[in-house]
Amino acid sequence: MAVGLIGGSGLEEFLESSVYRSLDTPYGPVKYIDSEVSGVRVIFIPRHGPGHEHPPHRVNYRGNIYAFRLLGVDKVIATSAVGGIDESLHPGMMVIVDQFIDFTKRFITFYDRHVVHVDVSRPYCPAINRILYRVGRGLGVRVRLGGIYVCTEGPRFETPAEINMFRLMGATVVGMTNVPEVVLAREAGLHYSLISIVTNYAAGMQERVSAEEVVQVMEGAAEGVRKIIESALPEVESGDWADDCIAFRDEFDRLILGGVG
Ligand code: HPA
Repeated sequence: MAVGLIGGSGLEEFLESSVYRSLDTPYGPVKYIDSEVSGVRVIFIPRHGPGHEHPPHRVNYRGNIYAFRLLGVDKVIATSAVGGIDESLHPGMMVIVDQFIDFTKRFITFYDRHVVHVDVSRPYCPAINRILYRVGRGLGVRVRLGGIYVCTEGPRFETPAEINMFRLMGATVVGMTNVPEVVLAREAGLHYSLISIVTNYAAGMQERVSAEEVVQVMEGAAEGVRKIIESALPEVESGDWADDCIAFRDEFDRLILGGVG
């Protein structure tokens, strides 16, 4: 089996191949790179497309996850830029989140015409989370295990009032893309973990939030992220966990890949 990587720019650089291929899915074409890192076959999908052309509300969330399953992926490591809500977080730090709160207005599911309700009591793979954290700490990266990701609709950043509300709710970081991505991964029976990279203090905690700052800090953090992934990959690949993550794999194979209904 292969390990899926999904994220932004900076990740491509350590792939042995940088040739983009295209795969047709029922949800539209998906561009990906089939490569090898640390002796592990990896499928890299740039979440927003190779030229970052899809904004958060137009990402092909279903196509990306469907492509992973078609290409033989069973575990996914995702990376994502976030704003820090927790006051002890600073730009450049990473949080391996374990919960999310959904403030999007997206209704995206594979089970649109089937009555399937997936359990998301533990939305992120606890086993991969622990590996990423341990490896990150070992490498001296400033990384935290556990946290709540609040997902907003975007593409605008938040108001300070919204951020205050999210803080009262206990949120740790804020981003625009992890829902529905993590949920679709669960619907498809994938082990999925997210390395969220703090690129800025959330709205109201600094003068203003800018996309330029987000890109700049992400570029600065890319090397640390690559190191974590490189070191973690062999252990992630060889994991064989019969946990909640894969509970709906058979349903997905039958109803979605098999096209029943
Ligand atoms: N808000 C939402 N998404 C983000 C942020 C933010 O402050 N920073 C990076 N992605």
